[in-house]
Amino acid sequence: MKIAIINGPNLNLVGKREPDIYGHRSMDDFIEALKNKYANQEISYFQSNVEGEMINEIQRVGFSADIILLNAGAYTHTSIAIADAVKAVDTPVIEIHLSNIFAREDFRKQSFLSPVCKAIISGFGLKGYEMAIESLFE
Ligand code: DQA
Repeated sequence: MKIAIINGPNLNLVGKREPDIYGHRSMDDFIEALKNKYANQEISYFQSNVEGEMINEIQRVGFSADIILLNAGAYTHTSIAIADAVKAVDTPVIEIHLSNIFAREDFRKQSFLSPVCKAIISGFGLKGYEMAIESLFE
């Protein structure tokens, strides 16, 4: 299966960034372990702090990947352009958040992505990416 993981702004700093919210494990370490665990799957990983680069990646993988796991970071709450990109491609998208966005500040409770995504996983930390992958095999 072709699984494309796309992470947005500041998610490259997971492990160092607000560890009480996002945990102590680095994203790079986690992605490496994930690729090893699912070595039979084709997993691509892309991270950018730039909105347009994320859109380019959604368009690049969005007609060939089987699933996109998208953590758009703060763009979740602001970006109509990323929501439009999700709508524009064929590949279904699962919205991921490490934290439970509904248990935080009010501005995080609105997601422009949830209405156009297949599902949302929020609040399970890095495990959320794994849960999304596991759901594909059921
Ligand atoms: C996040 C939640 C967002 O509100 C925040 O801006 C992030 C990370 C999460 O994974 O919990 O950067 O997407």
